[in-house]
Amino acid sequence: MAGLNSMRFLSVFVLYAIAMTCVTASPPVKGAYWPSWAESFPPSAIDTSLFTHVYYAFASPNNVTFKFDISNSTGISLLDFTSTLHRKKPSLKALLSIGGGGNDPQLFARMASKASTRGSFIKSTVEVARKYGFDGLDLDWEFPESPKEMEDWGHLLQEWRAEVKKEAKLKGRAPLLITAATYFSVDFFAYGDYRKYPAGSAGKNLDLINLMCYDYRGSWNTSATGAQAALFDPNSNISTSYGVKSWIKAGVPRSKLVMGLPLYGRTWKLKDPTQHGIGAPAVDVGPGDEGVLLFSQVEAFNKENKATVVYDAQTVSTYSYAGTSWIGYDDTTSTTMKIGFARALGLRGYFFWAVSYDSKWKISRQASKAWSL
Ligand SMILES: *[C@@H]1O[C@H](CO)[C@@H](O)[C@H](O)[C@H]1NC(C)=O
Ligand SMILES: *[C@@H]1O[C@H](CO)[C@@H](O)[C@H](O)[C@H]1NC(C)=O
Ligand SMILES: *[C@@H]1O[C@H](CO)[C@@H](O)[C@H](O)[C@H]1NC(C)=O
Ligand SMILES: *[C@@H]1O[C@H](CO)[C@@H](O)[C@H](O)[C@H]1NC(C)=O
Repeated sequence: MAGLNSMRFLSVFVLYAIAMTCVTASPPVKGAYWPSWAESFPPSAIDTSLFTHVYYAFASPNNVTFKFDISNSTGISLLDFTSTLHRKKPSLKALLSIGGGGNDPQLFARMASKASTRGSFIKSTVEVARKYGFDGLDLDWEFPESPKEMEDWGHLLQEWRAEVKKEAKLKGRAPLLITAATYFSVDFFAYGDYRKYPAGSAGKNLDLINLMCYDYRGSWNTSATGAQAALFDPNSNISTSYGVKSWIKAGVPRSKLVMGLPLYGRTWKLKDPTQHGIGAPAVDVGPGDEGVLLFSQVEAFNKENKATVVYDAQTVSTYSYAGTSWIGYDDTTSTTMKIGFARALGLRGYFFWAVSYDSKWKISRQASKAWSL
């Protein structure tokens, strides 16, 4: 199976090399989300040479009016973000990401269910983006929970696009970008009710679609270790290759698809320290905050504990273990392989969750290089 995937993988590489000599692709997207709550990592700490798009995470609208009530301190933080990044690199796109994993999905469901509340939300997002100097807006609704909510998500994007076009024309300015962070797959086949993103609306109305290609395995299932961001999975469709291809099959232009890459790992406590592969029996989460270690912490853990580090070619992922501690993550090797895959498929680029979790720009720098070669 590993051999088969590798063969397929290599042949796509060759096809890609041929394709690249014939066409000039759109400029690649090298994105990253910036967690605004990390006080030790201000926007000035971002190495802007490594990124084209940086997302301020997160803003949330009022849950009754669906407009943004920006406090003075948040306003200062928004302005600092856009002005610092634009000063360091004028071509960099600064986007405001709305929602996030910690945000109530019901807020978005209620807002998107009616034209009037969608309108209030949209108008307010455009006002905030212009007032604070953003180049675009990102919807991170995690997640629409039913086919009806998926339809509403599609209506919202259509009306948002119309408003952004109108506003740009009226003001004689470049239109704001509209992007969305989505589930790794175009349909939800393994979690909650079956539902599918309206690919037509997504492809037509969004500039970029940020596929969250991670969190496949984690603390919610401690019975076995797993590759939380596997490129391939021989036993299920919960993998980045499946997810990316599902979006392509649904008809979304490849030039809008951006592959998410995690700058963090997920940990388990092994049942038996001599059984330490992917899928090995586990009894609990391992080190970290609820079984999560940032990439910089993974590196520190590996060093301190003299952990064994393994690159797994079958899943295209990395893991390390020391005693009963087991960590699944991506290092420069697995990240480089994933970037090769994304380029071979003709995707637009990649993004990281999150910019501050890297270790001395190791992975961000390698990723940027791998896409440029
Ligand atoms: C709106 O947010 C407030 C404050 O967090 C909360 O008390 C209230 O229950 C929320 N309302 C709805 C409808 O979710
Ligand atoms: C916020 O800023 C405005 C204008 O600068 C000021 O009048 C107001 O008192 C400030 N509010 C708070 C809560 O600091
Ligand atoms: C937990 O993960 C293991 C290995 O991936 C899988 O076999 C098992 O079905 C999962 N359990 C649940 C409750 O999802
Ligand atoms: C994966 O998806 C394909 C097509 O969507 C389906 O035919 C196949 O049975 C799925 N495989 C697994 C292991 O779920």
